[in-house]
Order: sequence, then C-alpha cells, then structure tokens
Amino acid sequence: MELNKQEKLLLKKAKEASLKAYAPYSKHQVGAAILTNDNSIYSGCNIENSSYSVSICAERVAAAQAISKGEKKFTLIAIYVNSTKMFPPCGVCRQFLAEFSPDLKVIYANAKEIRLSTIRDLLPDAFSI
Ligand code: THU
Repeated sequence: MELNKQEKLLLKKAKEASLKAYAPYSKHQVGAAILTNDNSIYSGCNIENSSYSVSICAERVAAAQAISKGEKKFTLIAIYVNSTKMFPPCGVCRQFLAEFSPDLKVIYANAKEIRLSTIRDLLPDAFSI
C-alpha cells in the first residue's frame, strides 16, 4: 500500500515511539503517533505493569499527551508494533478514540504489512452519551 508523505511521517513517529515501550511482560513494543487537526503530532508507547491490568496501550498514551496539551481533534493515528502479528487498536482504545474523533483514520503496521481503516469501521455503532 502506498502512503502519502504525512502518513509516512506519522508511521515513522509511531515506530520511533515503539522504541520507548516498556513491555517486559508481553515483549510487544507498540508505538503510536496521532495527528491533530492543526497538524501537531503527539506520540506514545505501551507501558506495562507487573499488575497486568494496569498496563496502558500506546494509542491512549499518544492521545492523552495531545489532550493534556489542549488538543482534542484528531485526523489520523498510526500504530506500529515490532511483531509478526498485526496490532489493530484494542476495543478500549477504539472507544477512547471514538470519544474525540469518530472519523479518525487509522494506520496500523508491523515490519511486513500496513493496513488502513477508520475508527468508525473498527467500532460500528459506537457507544456515546
Ligand atoms: N497494546 C497496545 O499498545 N495497543 C493495542 O491496541 C493493543 C495492545 C499493548 C498492550 C500490551 O502492552 C501489549 O500491547 C500486549 O497486549
């Protein structure tokens, strides 16, 4: 699949962020980079914990970085994992991201493959109040 310049940049930032992952338990290093509607980029990695359920995914770390700087509108998120498996955003991250940008474009990739989707397609009939 051919990515445009901006998509390539975001995926590069996600890959860089994956190097910062704290994943001693799963060994899956995940990075995410999110693009805001005013073209800022925020990134994050997964952070695990010995109490496993305390762990947090890369996507929510990246989005939380942006939100805590006052950025709440996103157009694109790229996710990279150093695995042979593909890591589409988990259900919790889909719901988290849908809150802010239901039409968010999603690129997820490993070293071998790149896939493109949207939060709307990944989370049909999303919950909201
Ligand atoms: N992980 C993410 O960072 N993003 C996802 O969407 C799926 C899972 C992380 C959580 C955990 O640290 C590791 O990948 C294995 O589940």
